Amino acid sequence: MRVDIQQAIAKLKNGEVVAIPTETVYGLAADATNDAALQLIYAIKERPADNPLIVHIADTNQVENWATEFPPLAQKLAQAFWPGPFTLVLCAKAHVSSIVRGNQPTVALRVPNHPLTLQLLKTSGLALAAPSANKFTQLSPTTAAHVEAGLGKDIAVLDGGACTVGIESTIVSVQGDDWQLLRLGMVPEAGIEALAGKTALKNQVNLPKAPGQHVLHYSPKTPIKLFQSREALINFVQNSKKSCAALLIGKGVMPNCKHVILPKQAAKAAEKLYSALHTMDAFNVEQLLVETPPNAPAWQAILDRLTRAAH
Ligand code: TXA
Ligand code: MG
Repeated sequence: MRVDIQQAIAKLKNGEVVAIPTETVYGLAADATNDAALQLIYAIKERPADNPLIVHIADTNQVENWATEFPPLAQKLAQAFWPGPFTLVLCAKAHVSSIVRGNQPTVALRVPNHPLTLQLLKTSGLALAAPSANKFTQLSPTTAAHVEAGLGKDIAVLDGGACTVGIESTIVSVQGDDWQLLRLGMVPEAGIEALAGKTALKNQVNLPKAPGQHVLHYSPKTPIKLFQSREALINFVQNSKKSCAALLIGKGVMPNCKHVILPKQAAKAAEKLYSALHTMDAFNVEQLLVETPPNAPAWQAILDRLTRAAH
């Protein structure tokens, strides 16, 4: 069910969930201070309770409502990347619902860069907890139609058009002047490193993790297989008895096989990635074949999603 911004606000204030557009993917939003509404998110998504939610806020001034500290490094990153596809994990204030935190001592915060949702946040005065608006482990939605296809027509959706970044935000936790990359996204590690003036902490014990980063994730219903080269993919098609559809990067012809082409430029490919996978899922073939993207920094987040989808 499509709703307008006023209806969305009324529902959210009434403890209901509403799917909202962001520049990354659609989120399934609820008032981040209403435990019953937060429980609804987990129930609809069939998501494990130990997988915390990102709190979406209207601007940087709201960080102090949620975090005990806003270290200078975190402020610098927020200034550089908000509003945008970037999430900060900070030490949570005591009042922050343990449902939002998934029982972690931290809270994840993001100012999304979508005009409708920014208007919604500002007008309502709410902070919105919102995971991607899909069932647990399934493909994230980048259009209102994807949300309805995954969660059903009864879900209230604020339609803000197709998402322009296309994959979920980069997640960074900050403690003092140290930082850790918890999830790859289109804000690149090198950009954060340049601002921080030092590399991310890696592989150390006692560092916060992003729970819920399951190896199986972002998955279409049809099994996916990754190929290191176009030749290997074509070879598979020629020898396979299964019906297939291929995801190719850049130009290409694929006789005897349905295919979708992703743009050669990483940012454009990310924008179209989930949409391409949703389309390929609807082909109802037995196997999806994916050409592995270039092994370059700009493609790392896309490669991460494809690897998990193929697991
Ligand atoms: O782009 C995005 O981030 C989208 C849009 C809707 O904003 N949201 C999104 O939410 O991807 P979700 O729930 O699908 O992924 C949130 C991730 C999870 O992997 C979770 O573990 C991590 O954020 N996370 C949330 N709170 C955390 C915390 N306190 N500590 C560590 N990781 C946290
Ligand atoms: Mg998700």
